Amino acid sequence: MNTLKILLPTLVGLFVLMSLLPYGTRENPKTDPSLSLKAPKEVMEIFKRSCYDCHSNQTRWPWYSYVFPMSWSVMDHVKNGRLALNFDEWNSYSQKKKFKLKDAIAQKTGTTMPLKDYLWAHSEAKISKKEKEIVEKWAYGEE
Ligand code: HEC
Repeated sequence: MNTLKILLPTLVGLFVLMSLLPYGTRENPKTDPSLSLKAPKEVMEIFKRSCYDCHSNQTRWPWYSYVFPMSWSVMDHVKNGRLALNFDEWNSYSQKKKFKLKDAIAQKTGTTMPLKDYLWAHSEAKISKKEKEIVEKWAYGEE
């Protein structure tokens, strides 16, 4: 009992401290609209709903992104997600990079993307079979 009385507040204090630590950022960098991806409305809707939190400059930071240890994981996902693919920097990519990314997007949508952890908290981001087809059609179609 006594141990718990000391241990519990210490742990809570530690987690609060870890949450306040300046690890990573929760910034949404400014976007040059001319660089943002422009795709048909039905495609944009899917990306905005299921991908934009990690692959754009328009992340909606949830409350748990402020609470350790989830905060570290969310900040890592957004940082690495943006590095891998940022729909708000799409037009700064070379044709070759766009081509490669489109293929990866078609492969990953509804399979490994969005990440499992994310779907756990965002069931609305789940990709249906029909939506996967819409994304594939865009990725392998003309542009
Ligand atoms: C919770 C954050 C998160 C969400 C939501 C998310 N991704 Fe990702 N994505 C990542 C991270 C982190 C990486 C980089 C590491 C990796 O490949 O796992 C990544 C990598 C990728 C890559 C690989 C890029 C490359 O260089 O080959 C593609 C393509 C991709 N995501 C597409 C999508 C699409 C499409 C969606 C929506 C259907 C989506 N992601 C949703 C976090 C996310």
